[in-house]
Amino acid sequence: MDYRLLDLPARRGFRMAEVAPACCEQVVLEAYRHIQRSLELGRIRQVISHPSNKVYAALDNHGEWAGMIWLCEGEGSYGRPVGFIYLIAVKAEFRRKGLGRWLMEMADRWAGEQGYHAIELNVDGPNSPARHLYQTHGFQEVRVRMRKSVGL
Ligand SMILES: CC(C)(COP(=O)(O)OP(=O)(O)OC[C@H]1O[C@@H](n2cnc3c(N)ncnc32)[C@H](O)[C@@H]1OP(=O)(O)O)[C@@H](O)C(=O)NCCC(=O)NCCS
Repeated sequence: MDYRLLDLPARRGFRMAEVAPACCEQVVLEAYRHIQRSLELGRIRQVISHPSNKVYAALDNHGEWAGMIWLCEGEGSYGRPVGFIYLIAVKAEFRRKGLGRWLMEMADRWAGEQGYHAIELNVDGPNSPARHLYQTHGFQEVRVRMRKSVGL
């Protein structure tokens, strides 16, 4: 995997890196597999090919990604494009060590550099670890979709 280490102090032994464009798809697919979710490959490729696409990875001491965040321009809730967090994932064995928060800080920094006025993301209602992370990072709900199972 091709990473470019960023000139940022290590945190708890982890280093922050940018994933080389040619490796973004692999890291994104690995991350989806790790959290047992998926997104259609065509959609992944469409987003990755956008000029604003960026994937950051927090690397462990073997140089493997321990956590990652996938960022790209997205459609904002109020009509203006926003910086969008497509995916954030920290491998299970590295959770609760501050990597999620660090990756969110990278999203803030990227969005500022790109000149976006806001960052948005989607989160499943029952995903309380992620919701806690986002809420404590200053995110507020703008839309809630509800669902009820009916029939068979
Ligand atoms: C959500 C996720 C990225 C958080 O990563 P993390 O490295 O564990 O997060 P941090 O250690 O930086 O924790 C930051 C904050 O998130 C919240 N949080 C993280 N895990 C939590 C949990 N299990 N329960 C409640 N809050 C939690 C807390 O507010 C925490 O702050 P605190 O430690 O000061 O209490 C991680 O749990 C994950 O990868 N989950 C699976 C993938 C996923 O659901 N991604 C988001 C939707 S695509």
